Amino acid sequence: MSIHFDFIASLPETADTLVLTIFEDLKLGGAGAQIDSDMKGLISAVLERQKSAEDKFTGKFGQTLVIQTPLNVPYHQVILLGLGKLDKDHPYLDVEEAGSKLFAALKQVKAAHAGIVVDIQNHSGNKLDETGLSVNLLSGLELTAYEFKTYKTLDKENDKEKNKDNLRVTFQVQDPDAVKAAAQYALAEAAGIYSARDLGNEPANELYPESFAQYIQKELTPLGVKVTILDEKKLKKMGAGAFMAVGQGSENQPRMVIMEWKGLKGKSKADSSYPLALVGKGITFDTGGISLKPGAGMQDMKMDMCGAAAVVGAMRSLAMRKSPSNIIAAVALAENMPSHNAYRPGDIVKSLSGKTIEIHNTDAEGRLVLADTLTYVQQQYKPKAIIDLATLTGAMMVALGAAYCGVFANDDDLWAKMADASDHSGEKLWRMPLDEVYRKEMESDIADLKNLGTASRFAGACTAAGFLEAFIEPQTQWSHMDIAGVAWAKMARSIYPSKGATGFGVRVLNRLVEAHYE
Ligand code: BES
Ligand code: MN
Ligand code: ZN
Repeated sequence: MSIHFDFIASLPETADTLVLTIFEDLKLGGAGAQIDSDMKGLISAVLERQKSAEDKFTGKFGQTLVIQTPLNVPYHQVILLGLGKLDKDHPYLDVEEAGSKLFAALKQVKAAHAGIVVDIQNHSGNKLDETGLSVNLLSGLELTAYEFKTYKTLDKENDKEKNKDNLRVTFQVQDPDAVKAAAQYALAEAAGIYSARDLGNEPANELYPESFAQYIQKELTPLGVKVTILDEKKLKKMGAGAFMAVGQGSENQPRMVIMEWKGLKGKSKADSSYPLALVGKGITFDTGGISLKPGAGMQDMKMDMCGAAAVVGAMRSLAMRKSPSNIIAAVALAENMPSHNAYRPGDIVKSLSGKTIEIHNTDAEGRLVLADTLTYVQQQYKPKAIIDLATLTGAMMVALGAAYCGVFANDDDLWAKMADASDHSGEKLWRMPLDEVYRKEMESDIADLKNLGTASRFAGACTAAGFLEAFIEPQTQWSHMDIAGVAWAKMARSIYPSKGATGFGVRVLNRLVEAHYE
């Protein structure tokens, strides 16, 4: 469902559903009290009756109560939306969660136009302002409304839905211009998350390296991002032998795509350099190659490009909100297939860095494409810091599941920035160890490196990071986010879809840039 938002100072009279925010004191604010009296005290009567009800409405976070209205009232129903006590220091994520619950209630009553009365004047101890409350409700609504319906041809409703907004939400606020400006930020972030989810959900017969590269060019160029596509000839010629090895088993040849965002228009030297680079793993399908994966569940391996999707989504958000920053990004796009052309266990490949790698398992392919992409980005653009995102290891899922993304960082300052961005974004990060022990495990007897740790499955996420570390120059601040567990949903969690790509990473990157690179 797509939502059209607007912001006005008066009551939204054409709405079919009126939403009143209410706190745990269950007091109706100024506008709420007015509406209650217009409705001859119906709302307060319902609230009174609730006190003795079984599953009573107490106004706690995300609770909703639908009140059907009599004929003399212009709205079909009033929805009370609980916002708890609001005395927390960072209530924003709770408000977003409440927005998510509100979306479910609006869907249930089949609202076409909802008016939300944002009224927080009469509540003491409240740490939220009008803008914060409105915008976080908005992003809760927007992110929960996401659907992936591109291939649903039998759904008759769907055709109409594609081209028109079928839910309108009007916020009644005191300062519509201020709220609208802040909403632009939230909607830019959401648009990036939508992109990342869409890309993750696309099947691998539609989204392969070349079509992915075209998508980036078509979507990001109009927003002012400079997009450069390196095709297989260029990759081969420049010596990206690890990258090419992964892609060589497929008809769909690999691509590296570079995205440059120059939001700092000045002429000084600092304004033309890149303090931060983003790198994403984009294996458009991971069969495991000759070290073939088991068949069960393999369909989900179309999601092995979610790191790249998050990077593209983040670049979209930055460009849409015209972020005053210079950010460079690169995605490594390849398809890992078994075939007569495929790379083999035992092969030794030469990476762009010059280091040789002995292949022990063709299913450990992500680190190979990343190695060359990390090298290329450092050689060409000399960023001060690099963050890579990759669905790199099953071991990361075993360790942290879907709740936390494991993060490896060679620099405490960069990690501190990321942890700060994480605190305010709801995308939880947990620091994992980089250690000499893991780097040692990746040394080969006959080449410089091997692509599988000596202890095989043990500490698989850490040895993978140890491998990547070999391609980071000493002066580069670097962090690796293994998003294998968080990129793909298997159960519903508030603003995340219940199945499919979550778009994880876009938000934490967007907020990291906002707080530390603008
Ligand atoms: N793309 C997978 C990791 C993965 C697994 C992501 C499940 C999301 C869900 C990666 O390329 C892979 O196959 N990793 C291997 C590495 C091993 C061979 C060292 C793994 O984790 O089993
Ligand atoms: Mn693999
Ligand atoms: Zn993979």
